[in-house]
Amino acid sequence: MSAEDQAAKLRALMQDVRHTHTIAVTSGKGGVGKSNIALNLAVLLSAAGNRVALLDADFGLANLDVLVDATVRANLAHVIAGQRKLADVVVDLPCGVQLVPGASGLAQMANLNDFQRSSLIAELTELEENNDVIVIDTGAGIGKNVLTFAGTADSVLVVATAEPTSITDAYAVIKVLHQQGCRARMSLLVNFAADRTEARATYNRIATVAREFLGVSLYDAGYILADPRVSLAVRKRQPYVLAYPRCQASRCLAALATKLCRGGGLLVRNESFFKRVANWFS
Ligand SMILES: Nc1ncnc2c1ncn2[C@@H]1O[C@H](COP(=O)(O)OP(=O)(O)O)[C@@H](O)[C@H]1O
Ligand SMILES: [Mg+2]
Repeated sequence: MSAEDQAAKLRALMQDVRHTHTIAVTSGKGGVGKSNIALNLAVLLSAAGNRVALLDADFGLANLDVLVDATVRANLAHVIAGQRKLADVVVDLPCGVQLVPGASGLAQMANLNDFQRSSLIAELTELEENNDVIVIDTGAGIGKNVLTFAGTADSVLVVATAEPTSITDAYAVIKVLHQQGCRARMSLLVNFAADRTEARATYNRIATVAREFLGVSLYDAGYILADPRVSLAVRKRQPYVLAYPRCQASRCLAALATKLCRGGGLLVRNESFFKRVANWFS
């Protein structure tokens, strides 16, 4: 067999085993940095050579388009209403990421009728076919949307800060996800960390109760230091890993992206993610 034939065969094989990895970024409390983490992680995974889609599933306060200064003509609400195809609302960001803009104040997934839900899922399955990784910003709390998207993802990145309220709320989300049958790999990422010691203490507190009371092994996704550059980048409406690639927050996030790309973190599942979303409701 010629080298070209071999390469073609390998490519065909890769097509078969290729599976889209979905990462849901979630939290108990709002304002802990989820949207910024989802966005910047998507940018880094794209820079690492993955085809990446970023789905704004925070139907309460969708704002990823604002973070990247994208001009959005239509969003998920139009897809759900059957007025647009998903392909028409996807925005190709200059960094290579495909953004699916969300809609604020949108009816909860649970309130969609069967027709709306199945057409949304059919459209989202298309997104899965065209990407290696889908990063989902789920919004905060334990509403049906969050449980749906986080409950069916391959990995769930729970974001917390060292504040006691954030710690208890992060635990509450982990508990509800677990009780609802979520068997995704759950990791904890500590944002706004003062230093490594504080981040470790926060991780240990949550991981200990998750293990003792739920029997859940919570992976350590590391931490992101509190960094004024994050806010500066938001004002510039640019991802901080692009606006300030060498700032502390960017370095911390790069460590997480490297961990994810090294295998370990990216688990392979065979079933389509959005089909699992559909099952979650049935
Ligand atoms: N590591 C960080 N250091 C400093 N400020 C941060 C950091 N991460 C996020 N922020 C700030 O926190 C605010 C909330 O972030 P956001 O990503 O919108 O949170 P969420 O999506 O969880 O509500 C933003 O204004 C952002 O500037
Ligand atoms: Mg947000």
